[in-house]
Amino acid sequence: MTKVAPSMLSADFSRLGDELRRIDSAGADWAHLDVMDGMFVPNITFGAPVIKAIRKHSDIPFDAHLMIQDPIRYIKDFADAGCDLVTVHCEAVGDIRGAIQEIKARGMRAGISVNPETPVTELEEYLPLVDLALIMTVHPGFGGQSFIAECIPKISYVRDWAVENGADLEISVDGGVNEFTGKVCADAGATVLVAGSALFKLEDMAPAIREWKTFGPDAGCRDGSKPFPHMHAVGDRPGGPEGEDPGRRRVQHDLPVSVHHQAARRQAADGLRGEGDVAPLRNPVPHI
Ligand code: DX5
Ligand code: ZN
Repeated sequence: MTKVAPSMLSADFSRLGDELRRIDSAGADWAHLDVMDGMFVPNITFGAPVIKAIRKHSDIPFDAHLMIQDPIRYIKDFADAGCDLVTVHCEAVGDIRGAIQEIKARGMRAGISVNPETPVTELEEYLPLVDLALIMTVHPGFGGQSFIAECIPKISYVRDWAVENGADLEISVDGGVNEFTGKVCADAGATVLVAGSALFKLEDMAPAIREWKTFGPDAGCRDGSKPFPHMHAVGDRPGGPEGEDPGRRRVQHDLPVSVHHQAARRQAADGLRGEGDVAPLRNPVPHI
C-alpha cells in the first residue's frame, strides 16, 4: 500500500495536538513535520520543542523533514523529541553524511531530500546510507504551491536505483500532491505521498487517505504484471553483477527514458496541465 503522510504545515498551529489526532484517526501512516529555519528556506516553522510537546497526543510515526542548514547540530534534539524518521537535504550546508550517520546512530530512520532544481544524481552518494529519499515537487518553504511535473523523472530514477541495488528504500514525494498528482507520483514509483493543503482542506480526510493508499503499482498491480517491467534486479542483468561493487555501481537504465517514466510524463502532460495542478520549473535543468 502506498503510504500517506499529511504535512502538519497545513494544520491549525493553535491546535496541533488535536490536528495530530485528526490525521491519526483518518488513517494516515505518518505525520510529516516540516522544520524550517529561515536560512535554508525563507520561512520559519517549529523545532524539536514543539514536536516533543505534540508527541504525547498520538503514536503515529513522526516523519521530520529538516529544511535547515547544518542539520547535524540538532539531530539529538529531534531524537529526544520522539521523531521516528529524520530527513535532511542534500543541498544543506554542513556534514550531510555525518548527519545521516548521527540519525541512524540515534535509532531513527534517515532520509535524504532533493530540491526541484537539484539534479537527482546529487542523491547517489547518500542513497546507500538512507531509508528514504524525499523528492521535492515544489520549492521548499511553503505549503499550497503547484506541483512541478518536471520532477517526476526523479521518482522513477530513484525507484530504478532501489530495484537495481535491492534497497529497501521508501520514496516520498512532497509538494503540490493531490488526488491527481499523487496518482502520477505513485505510478512513477513513489511509496509515500506527503500532502498538506490538499488533505487539510477536507472536512474528513479519511476517504481521500483510503483512496490514495490504493494508488500505484505497489498497491495492487491491476493486471498482475510486474510493477516495473522495464527494471531488472541486480541478478537479472545479463552477465550478472559479478566483479562489481554493488554499493558503488551507478544505475544503468535499459532505456534512456523508462516506460513508467514516459507514461508518467504523458499523464502529467495530458491529465494535469490546464487544471491548475502543475507549475513549470523556474530554471529547467536536466535531472538525469
Ligand atoms: C514544503 C513542505 C511540504 C508542504 C507541502 O516546503 O516540505 O511538506 O507542507 O504542502 P502542500 O501539500 O500544500 O504543497
Ligand atoms: Zn515537507
